[in-house]
Amino acid sequence: MADYPTHEHDVLVIGAGGAGLRASIEASAAGVSVGLVCKSLLGKAHTVMAEGGIAAALANVDERDNWMVHFSDTMRGGQYVNNWRMAQLHAQEAPARVRELEAWGAVFDRTPDGKILQRNFGGHRYPRLAHVGDRTGLELIRTLQDHGIHKGINVFMEYTVVRLLKDGDRIAGALAYSRERGRFAVFKAKAVILATGGIGKAYKITSNSWEYTGDGHTLAYDAGAELQDMEFIQFHPTGMIWPLSVQGILVTEGVRGEGGILLNNKGEQFMYNDIPDNYKNQTAKDPEEGWRYCQGDRNAQRPAELLTRDHVARCIMREVKAGRGSPHGGVYLDIAWIKKKIANAPEHIKKKLPSMYHQFKELGNIDITTEPMEVGPTTHYVMGGVKVDADTQMSRVPGLFACGECAVGINGANRLGGNSLSDLLVFGKRAGEHALKYAKEHAAPSLNADAVEAAAKWALEPFDRQGGDEGPYVIQHALQDMMQDLVGIVRKEDEMQRALEGLAKLKERAKKAKVVGNREYNPGWHTALDLHNLLTVSEAITRCSLLRKESRGGHFREDYQNKEAAWAKVNLVTRKGPDGEMQVEQVPIPEMPAELKQIIEEMK
Ligand code: FUM
Repeated sequence: MADYPTHEHDVLVIGAGGAGLRASIEASAAGVSVGLVCKSLLGKAHTVMAEGGIAAALANVDERDNWMVHFSDTMRGGQYVNNWRMAQLHAQEAPARVRELEAWGAVFDRTPDGKILQRNFGGHRYPRLAHVGDRTGLELIRTLQDHGIHKGINVFMEYTVVRLLKDGDRIAGALAYSRERGRFAVFKAKAVILATGGIGKAYKITSNSWEYTGDGHTLAYDAGAELQDMEFIQFHPTGMIWPLSVQGILVTEGVRGEGGILLNNKGEQFMYNDIPDNYKNQTAKDPEEGWRYCQGDRNAQRPAELLTRDHVARCIMREVKAGRGSPHGGVYLDIAWIKKKIANAPEHIKKKLPSMYHQFKELGNIDITTEPMEVGPTTHYVMGGVKVDADTQMSRVPGLFACGECAVGINGANRLGGNSLSDLLVFGKRAGEHALKYAKEHAAPSLNADAVEAAAKWALEPFDRQGGDEGPYVIQHALQDMMQDLVGIVRKEDEMQRALEGLAKLKERAKKAKVVGNREYNPGWHTALDLHNLLTVSEAITRCSLLRKESRGGHFREDYQNKEAAWAKVNLVTRKGPDGEMQVEQVPIPEMPAELKQIIEEMK
């Protein structure tokens, strides 16, 4: 094996957003050595895009809330294909994780009597989102960083992992390169936790930044783990659409939680025109009742703007297609209207939504206290991911764990806003706990020098290509355009078949993508390597979407518009066959225990 620097840890965590940080804290606090590798800078993570709050049944604002209501809301939001055990653990453990975060220094907004304040969000029956204005994810990251930094975690920033390494069947570490110098480093570990976030960069319009290229999904898949339910993509209903340079940036659901309304170009509050049957008894009859709900009236039902994200996103698309959209192809989101209802509305808006105020003022020259915003759906989150055991977060590869967005389970077909932050704390902690246990119970693995060399050779191969004249960015953009057009919010068979054919062609083009320059800070090279991940997850998304012949949550098919009982199953993606082809099969969901079924029945 070439003389690469080798770093040895008990537990290696890949990804330094909320899930990776929480997992690292858990493992290092128990005394094992932890290495934390991140592609970008520590804390620069999609976690900060969960702006409006963290969902936990603290019952501070409405004492009727408890874990059972949260569990049942999560299952209904996920259209009952969630991993029920994960949904149960999440609802039960989220309050303790939020209180722990507070004890570690998170400064939450407060109720008048000094408790953590909670706000309304889509699909949550009661005000449940503990928040810090509209910067909750940022505060979560800040707190975890401050806390984690004292735990002796070895942080490796700007290291990109190109391959997981194995010792026989079990995990043995990873090969990475430093973005700055372009040099390889070997990370040897008894257990590895993937916490790499999502896949947003497979789409043209996304709230995700450049890091989110499906790395953990692909590393796990290439190492023999299964992916599941990759068709379930969350298109957050409200992203900025104008100016084009900032298209996709998130506009928090907290705007609607604070009373913001969605309007078409006729000034109609169109969300009230189409309320799904299963939400009818829990949705306001009219906007006035919706406003009373936002003001804390316990007899009122939630506004139609706070229906689940999949539904709101589709209603927005319907308005735009019908010619009732805003000038730049979205709809209007208006919070300024509340001046009719409350005194000092501009100050109130700036206090509750400070980031949104600055975002629109600085990026779009819009004052949201006096004028409406223009918004449209943006690719925000993938519900699908690495299949893991609900309690331990271990994949089928011994010693390989996954948590946060790159793992599948808790969200089913659609995630409720705010559940991602509590997910990453609950399951980040669990992954850390079980990875350290695994590390304590197992001897150090051996590294296979040939496998390390093969991975390094693979990573350097783009420099050796002769004759290619396309840069990797051209291919990445072609992929993003294609996924947006053919496997986006509304899907149909022939378009997805075209996408599959397109993916095969893009794979061939990616093999020839030309990289110029040397290995130091070479973004073209990084993108050429990212393409492997983006193409792998895009294929998984497309194949799962083709197989699921129904509409459910984040997967809507124009040619199969109904939800089908027969399809209350999950899609499992594995690498099979002599050439490692991708295969997708439907698998039944294990029977839910009677006590959980009863909770769901009672909550209905
Ligand atoms: O709208 C938001 O603030 C996003 C929250 C989330 O995705 O959980």
